[in-house]
Amino acid sequence: MKRDVIVALDFPTLEETLEFLDKFDDVKPFVKVGMELYLQNGPKVIEEIKKRDHKIFLDLKLHDIPNTVYGACRGLARFSIDILTVHAAGGVEMLKAAKKGMIDGGHEKTAVIAVTQLTSTSEENMKKEQLLVVSLEESVLNYAKLSEEAGLDGVVSSVHEVEKINKVSRTNFLKVTPGIRFDSDDLGDQKRVATPSEARKLGSTHIVVGRPITKAKDPVEAYKLFLDEFIK
Ligand code: C5P
Repeated sequence: MKRDVIVALDFPTLEETLEFLDKFDDVKPFVKVGMELYLQNGPKVIEEIKKRDHKIFLDLKLHDIPNTVYGACRGLARFSIDILTVHAAGGVEMLKAAKKGMIDGGHEKTAVIAVTQLTSTSEENMKKEQLLVVSLEESVLNYAKLSEEAGLDGVVSSVHEVEKINKVSRTNFLKVTPGIRFDSDDLGDQKRVATPSEARKLGSTHIVVGRPITKAKDPVEAYKLFLDEFIK
């Protein structure tokens, strides 16, 4: 899958989402549908966005027993989405079941990628709540290795972990990274951020950008700036 900018559609309703997408008449950005939009509006969201020819990253972060995740993925296969997320913490059997579900459902092409440690988890909280004795970075690398061994197509991580993940994974392993800002952008609640050109240099394959595009005065122009910086 070639490098790309993914626009996070963090809107509550389908109407607002489509109104936003209608601004992009000459370009068709790769878009991210997350829990907020999907759980309130259902599969119709996917069908409507597909009709408009956008690539879709469905960020549902599935985490359950292997059999349940298998069934969910086998069902989701019919939507021909481009990327789907699951939680690496679900374990190798669950990760394999997710991939097998997509294959058995008839859409092997959907890249199944794993969330390692959430970027909202601090090392201190991880140690206290998950009772892990390793560093956050070691935990992320461990999850990246397990995901690759389980046959997954990539991981979601912070930009700052990408170089290390590259050392423990195959060349075409996807590294999808949120927390992207230009120096002039508002950070919002993101803490460990990087610019699109830093992400490119560090080896991200996809950057996920929400508010700097969705809240921009001219979202199409903002999207093109991110694209220019990341793809060039
Ligand atoms: O608005 P902003 O650019 O911060 O949006 C980033 C998007 O990436 C949001 O949809 C957010 O949920 C998502 N995300 C993230 N950090 C993660 C995983 C997903 O910011 N670890």
